[in-house]
Amino acid sequence: MIVDRQDQLQKLIRLLTTAAANASLYHPEHRQVLRLGRQALSALQLLFNVHTDITIKVIDGQLIFSNQPVADNLAVTRLLQALERNGISFLKITPDVYAEELLGLISILSKSPDKQIELKDSENIHFDQVAIRFTTPINQQLSGLNLNDIAASEADRFMDIYQTVRSRQKLEITGINEIVNGFVNAFNCQSDAFMAIAPLRSMDEYTYTHSTNICMLNLAQAKALGVEGQLLNDIGIAAMLHDVGKMFISPDILSKSAELDADEWEIMQQHPRLGAEYLLNTPGVPRLAVVTAFEHHMRYDNNGYPKTKNNWQQHICSYMTAISDTYDAMRTHRSYEESLDTNQIFSIMLELAGNKLHPRLTYNFLQILSERDITSGPSNYSAV
Ligand SMILES: [Fe+2]
Ligand SMILES: [Fe+2]
Repeated sequence: MIVDRQDQLQKLIRLLTTAAANASLYHPEHRQVLRLGRQALSALQLLFNVHTDITIKVIDGQLIFSNQPVADNLAVTRLLQALERNGISFLKITPDVYAEELLGLISILSKSPDKQIELKDSENIHFDQVAIRFTTPINQQLSGLNLNDIAASEADRFMDIYQTVRSRQKLEITGINEIVNGFVNAFNCQSDAFMAIAPLRSMDEYTYTHSTNICMLNLAQAKALGVEGQLLNDIGIAAMLHDVGKMFISPDILSKSAELDADEWEIMQQHPRLGAEYLLNTPGVPRLAVVTAFEHHMRYDNNGYPKTKNNWQQHICSYMTAISDTYDAMRTHRSYEESLDTNQIFSIMLELAGNKLHPRLTYNFLQILSERDITSGPSNYSAV
């Protein structure tokens, strides 16, 4: 019975945090948010069969329910972060709670850290707000490192995660989330993505290096556009996982130094679909990561792959990922290609703006690029 209640509470937390993520990704009245809100209300009502009210406390970075710590997982961490962001140490929901009140709570949980709002009790939802702390426990061990340190310290962990995917086991999204949290934190101190992107040292490191490069370049683009909070994290996670489908492509094709033939190219073009399908079936993965894995080679003019309807509307994160991917591919090179210098990359990207790449986002990227001194040299493998 106790296990059932814990399950029910975990379900409620998952629904609330997913709804909040959708509210920040789209808007608080999006039908996905409304649907998840209705499901959260049903989960609450089941909990009211055994509890007179639902009281959640934050004590020492722990979520406490019914005087017991709540078992940690990604959704619990997200709720904890959202509560801490708003300085909420106490949240009480009473049985007459109605849908609009719950949507109000979801909207509070979806707010980014830079938008502090004054919390008001409603009829059935009560808060206790304390002084706001910006550092969450999950980030503490990484917050003192710079981006390069993190890239190095997280490499083994990331490789483990990708090995899990290669063997078709369940992906542990919490690990990716923590790595991205570390990047976002370090970014706030260092804010120079280009200094951190790494040249490639070996084929083994390719997946990690390419994924972290795209992550940092996407974070740089998104931050320049003013994106913060959960959406920024999700954009980072989407970047880290954009090529996860390559884990299902033969290493012979992935590491081939000569140009791919038609059959190999056709196999390689399956990686967006394979990645999206895998992520879709992995619990806890942000929807945005599924979308980005599927769309990142579609091109701005929709002439890429996978083939879709002409009026297919891509997500802005897919456009950003395509830009980061193109840049990272040009600053690296396969053995049969010449590497390019920054000026050449700059003019090629300008030519691609409006056909392969989203024009305004490309200008945004080139603006960031032009403000930085690119000192890292080319590496020896390119992204496809
Ligand atoms: Fe790709
Ligand atoms: Fe890629």
